[in-house]
Amino acid sequence: MTSSAEPTYTLVVVSNRLPVDYDEAADGAVTWRTSPGGLVTALEPLMRSSHGAWVGWPGVADRDFEPFENDGISLVPVRLNETDIEDYYEGFSNDTLWPLYHDVIAPPSFHRETWDAYVRVNRRFAAAAAAVAAPGATVWVHDYQLQLVPRMLREARPDLVIGFFNHIPFPPYGIYAQLPWRKQILHGLLGADVIGFQRVADAGNFTQAVRRLFGYPTRGVVIDVPTGDGPIGQTGDSRRVIAKHFPISIDAASYEELARRPDIQARARQIREDLGNPKTLMLGVDRLDYTKGIGHRLKAFGELLADGRLSVEDVTLVQVASPSRERVSTYMALRDEIELAVGRLNGDFSTISHTAISYHHHSYPREEMVAMYLAADVMLVTALRDGMNLVAKEYVAVRFDVDGVLVLSEFAGAADELKQAILINPHDIDGTKDAIVRAVEMPKRERTRRMRSLRRKVAENDVAAWSASFLRALTGGAAVPAGIPDD
Ligand code: F6P
Repeated sequence: MTSSAEPTYTLVVVSNRLPVDYDEAADGAVTWRTSPGGLVTALEPLMRSSHGAWVGWPGVADRDFEPFENDGISLVPVRLNETDIEDYYEGFSNDTLWPLYHDVIAPPSFHRETWDAYVRVNRRFAAAAAAVAAPGATVWVHDYQLQLVPRMLREARPDLVIGFFNHIPFPPYGIYAQLPWRKQILHGLLGADVIGFQRVADAGNFTQAVRRLFGYPTRGVVIDVPTGDGPIGQTGDSRRVIAKHFPISIDAASYEELARRPDIQARARQIREDLGNPKTLMLGVDRLDYTKGIGHRLKAFGELLADGRLSVEDVTLVQVASPSRERVSTYMALRDEIELAVGRLNGDFSTISHTAISYHHHSYPREEMVAMYLAADVMLVTALRDGMNLVAKEYVAVRFDVDGVLVLSEFAGAADELKQAILINPHDIDGTKDAIVRAVEMPKRERTRRMRSLRRKVAENDVAAWSASFLRALTGGAAVPAGIPDD
């Protein structure tokens, strides 16, 4: 890691988190750990290859850091103090927007102070990006925490080409309309030239909200946003904004490469052995978030054990629930609820030699995750609502042995592409139970046929294809910005 002077960049990525979080041990030892979530996984390869700058929060309160380089990526830290974290990050982003955008699975809170913090912090991110962007640079803003940044950037730097990608769903108008600041958010987003979404339905929901709240004309993916006072179409004073789906993906080849490593394959065998070599190993991997449907999954699994359709002698469920947003009350309540359910199921069904659920409230390095994917016969993705769900794609990318069954919620964006998974409605517990049994009993030929088709999909649209298609739309077909620092 080296500190660097302040260059200007032709490609700037802006996201709430930097790809690394600052961590200081009790003895003062400093480490930079990979940040949680799919966004980092998705963008790291692009940033490494394009030598762009990444603007974001280093994951710690009240600390100033000079821009620095880490693992081939130029990082520009944005400072957040304790109040910013409480009000902008835990408050407005994760207690208002997150539940609102995920079908109000948990009730969103609407507080004016947290909105004020959201505006204030978005302004700080916009200023930091404007300071490092070269004239005419491409700035790509990410996710729901920063929806005001595109407009703020456009006002400060009209020379920039501005993209925005929403990694989470965009809700239907009936839900979105609850937001007291619904117009301000749309106005913020419409500062971008291209607004990307995960699913066709998300882009449609956004366009509909624009029509309903502003009455701007829309044609397919194009929205005419007025720039002056004159009527659109007559004076020509409107900007063309594109709102379209660009389903995100993963660096599939790098996952497969890890999976082919003999030490990781040995680790996969070891995992199965340590679990008592069950006939079927089922796996769930999620941030501990109420959108992921972990409770629904446990209910279905528990009922299957109770009905005798599955037995702990044959089947073990490994559930990785990585810690997330631990100071937000809905997340604290969820942890209690899930851990109570796991404890009950294990109490009711485990034997001395067989544990029903092997539960892990940890994050693991990528190598360990790949070993778990390799070890798992059945992967359970039962999200109640999810922008994409990259875990589903990671599982498929890892299975170069063309085996394993993916059970996938139709409410995850990945279901639009991964149609050869066993698709479920996780609210339908009986349907989910049947799908799990079908996955456990699926003959090898069918597993292979489905996995082959899933792997083709993930290989065709990997993360490089995703970012290239977004940047192509943004630069109007011009070459993808090289992002070489322009000192
Ligand atoms: O895509 C959803 C998202 O909120 C990302 O923006 C983020 O990187 C990830 O989930 C993890 O969430 P958090 O940054 O709140 O820990």
